[in-house]
Amino acid sequence: MVSQETPAKRSTAKIQVRGLNFYYGPRQALYDISLGIAEKKITALIGPSGCGKSTFLRTLNRMHELVRQARAEGQLLLDGEDIMSMDVTRLRRRVGMVFQKSNPFPKTIFENVAYGLRVNGYPKGRPLADLVEASLKRAALWDEVKDSLHKSAYALSGGQQQRLCIARALAVNPEVLLLDEPCSALDPIATAKIEELLFALRESCTIVIVTHNMQQAARVADYTGFFLMGRLVEFDETKVVFTRPRRRETEDYITGRFG
Ligand SMILES: Nc1ncnc2c1ncn2[C@@H]1O[C@H](COP(=O)(O)OP(=O)(O)OP(=O)(O)O)[C@@H](O)[C@H]1O
Ligand SMILES: [Mg+2]
Repeated sequence: MVSQETPAKRSTAKIQVRGLNFYYGPRQALYDISLGIAEKKITALIGPSGCGKSTFLRTLNRMHELVRQARAEGQLLLDGEDIMSMDVTRLRRRVGMVFQKSNPFPKTIFENVAYGLRVNGYPKGRPLADLVEASLKRAALWDEVKDSLHKSAYALSGGQQQRLCIARALAVNPEVLLLDEPCSALDPIATAKIEELLFALRESCTIVIVTHNMQQAARVADYTGFFLMGRLVEFDETKVVFTRPRRRETEDYITGRFG
């Protein structure tokens, strides 16, 4: 396929993927994927339903290990360190994830954010409440919840719940944040808030986002990868993918001719 490693070479690759093949039992879902995820940039993954975007995203922090008979082959490096052989708890602390359906725990707003800190430990000398506040501020949710921290997370709106899940992921200070269609259930205002948040987070975090929304990819992403039937067909700077795609399939997809 195309030389997918090009874009990230222009900046440092936080994650380097080489020759990734992925199988669910006997069925192959990803074919020979190679790409570099640029550090402190936003990379969007697009493509029709079932093309392997979520599968790819999950391999980056080994969430696929929760699926029976799922198997990844190839090289995945985080800052040059082998992801496959890394301690998985440490890996997931460094590479956090936010899912399509916001999934707050049946706990208070405060406890949702404090959870990861309690499990992973947090710096001595800094009260937990300060760290929770800082994460809620980073997720642009603090002002909306500061007077109801001890109410159930389920009392929040969908967009607020999604930002709560982002705050929970951010609490342990991940270096990489993976987001699988985080806005698919949100209205345009809530979506705009998440997009603003992603821009702000780019200062401190490497972001990979799966989205079905072409405008969203065009708005937020520095780089965009187009998947089709388990293959990475095109990967380049977002403006190139959306204005001068090299492959016919990419053009057909982004102009809505299929998918
Ligand atoms: N747990 C699983 N067990 C078996 N096959 C799976 C599993 N999850 C996904 N697949 C298959 O792998 C392929 C890729 O699925 P994946 O969920 O990665 O696609 P996607 O691009 O994220 O799609 P969507 O846009 O609908 O979320 C599909 O053919 C799907 O049926
Ligand atoms: Mg998916």
